[in-house]
Amino acid sequence: MNILVVGATGTIGKAVADALAENHTVIRAGYNDGDVRVDLGSKASIEAMYNSIGQVDAVVSTAGLAGFAPFSELDDAAYDLALQNKLMGQINLVRIGQAHISDGGSFTLTAGILSRNPMPGSVVISLANGALESFSKAAALELGRGLRVNTVSPVFVKETMEVMGMDSSSGLSAADTAKAYLAAVEGDLTGAVFDAPDYA
Ligand SMILES: NC(=O)c1ccc[n+]([C@@H]2O[C@H](COP(=O)([O-])OP(=O)(O)OC[C@H]3O[C@@H](n4cnc5c(N)ncnc54)[C@H](OP(=O)(O)O)[C@@H]3O)[C@@H](O)[C@H]2O)c1
Repeated sequence: MNILVVGATGTIGKAVADALAENHTVIRAGYNDGDVRVDLGSKASIEAMYNSIGQVDAVVSTAGLAGFAPFSELDDAAYDLALQNKLMGQINLVRIGQAHISDGGSFTLTAGILSRNPMPGSVVISLANGALESFSKAAALELGRGLRVNTVSPVFVKETMEVMGMDSSSGLSAADTAKAYLAAVEGDLTGAVFDAPDYA
């Protein structure tokens, strides 16, 4: 398959792209770097990316910005970032991507465990993650041409915890997290949420 990985220069995305590249042709998209650049916050940028790479068989997103902050400190900009980038950016990858993906192709988006296991400071991230899971469940019912859409829900990644100076013993490595994305791309489920620890 020809597979576009958006966020392929990131912690999870690089592991996903490397794992997929063992059996597929991978086009790596990033914000600053990659085979192609894209800004998830801009529909025009997403359109330009798809136009520049030609038809693909699968799209994986491991991108999406949203910030931690106490509820009392969340301003409009914090909500806008989560809603316009992490949420609508990934939804727009599906909306716009339908015209650029083969029949039977798949979209795999990234949500996260904070949708169902929130923590103080996670309000906008939890909000975007929950909405992404609901979006893919509902959109899966209506996508035609055998297209599929799923969401992967990662837990805290060991490499991310290490960069943050945290004890990473409770985390899942990026390589193990990538296995859930492979299952979503190479399997036949749609409208599903792939909890990363279940595939490690
Ligand atoms: N890491 C974790 O512990 C964890 C846990 C649960 C969920 N998640 C979710 O998983 C996703 C990936 O996390 P990560 O830790 O791998 O992130 P990361 O290391 O920060 O990588 C982010 C990726 O997204 C790209 N990107 C940044 N801004 C973008 C934009 N405006 N448009 C398009 N692409 C953009 C980056 O490109 P450049 O490198 O070119 O800037 C990079 O490829 C996020 O949605 C995160 O919320 C992560």
